[in-house]
Amino acid sequence: MVAIVITGRGGAGKTTMSANLSTYFSLSGYKTLVIDGDLYLPKLAFHFGIYNPVTNLHTLLSNPDTRLKDAIYHDVKTGVDVLPGSSKLFDILTMDEKRLRDIVREAAENYDVTFIDSPVGIPFDTISTFRLAQYQLIVVELGRCPVHSFRKMVENEVDKLKALGEAYGLKVGVILNKIREEKPIVDDIVEYLEESVGVPVVGIVSFDPAVPASQNRGIPVVVNVPHSRAARDIRMAGDVLREWIFNVEIKRGLIDSFLDTLRSLFLRLFPSGKKL
Ligand SMILES: Nc1ncnc2c1ncn2[C@@H]1O[C@H](COP(=O)(O)OP(=O)(O)O)[C@@H](O)[C@H]1O
Ligand SMILES: [Mg+2]
Repeated sequence: MVAIVITGRGGAGKTTMSANLSTYFSLSGYKTLVIDGDLYLPKLAFHFGIYNPVTNLHTLLSNPDTRLKDAIYHDVKTGVDVLPGSSKLFDILTMDEKRLRDIVREAAENYDVTFIDSPVGIPFDTISTFRLAQYQLIVVELGRCPVHSFRKMVENEVDKLKALGEAYGLKVGVILNKIREEKPIVDDIVEYLEESVGVPVVGIVSFDPAVPASQNRGIPVVVNVPHSRAARDIRMAGDVLREWIFNVEIKRGLIDSFLDTLRSLFLRLFPSGKKL
């Protein structure tokens, strides 16, 4: 399964969701890969504490002799495999985007779940990967959009991105992020998106300072602060996605949350993985 994560505006939380949802799937027992498809401003690797990876997606794009397995990093804290981008301008200028689709196809073959963190707006750079995907998640930041202009923003952004995904036959869902609004307002927005726009809302994630704090530590919030509001909300979004994608019924009780916490603790204490 390949899911593309996109957003109409920068800063909505696309990279954060890519990092945390891939962590959720990994902790739920799926072999998971996350790819930094934001080719010009790659930041995904920072969320996993990977800085300046020598071999990376850009190396693969610019040098056909690079081996895929050398560019994939196993993150022991989350169990996620990460295909990072390069932050060096030279690497970005010399890449050959034409190879992206083949690289992503080859990489995703070995995983149950692959997330691709795409560039902001209409993701022209990664559009070739849309044919490899089945799902598209649009991350919408409510916090920076006054609620009364929400409908205008939806017309401008969500409608277009949804149409784009559907043109490629993708199943499209929305994640609302950085929520600070009261429940009735959020309920209104969800109803508008689901009934008028016709797109399911798969997640509603609270604004939570634990998210940037975790990013600074290089550990996704679902592992770094598993009891935070954002971690809880992201797990719920993950449950919805898992039901949607794998058709499994999930009953998340106290025991499941406890097991998740144990599992992430175990991974941190006894890292089994090594760089692939
Ligand atoms: N739910 C949240 N609560 C608080 N801060 C968040 C939340 N989600 C993301 N952020 C912060 O917002 C900033 C932008 O997020 P990022 O994932 O990089 O956005 P994008 O990839 O869409 O540009 C980051 O500093 C991140 O830590
Ligand atoms: Mg980003």
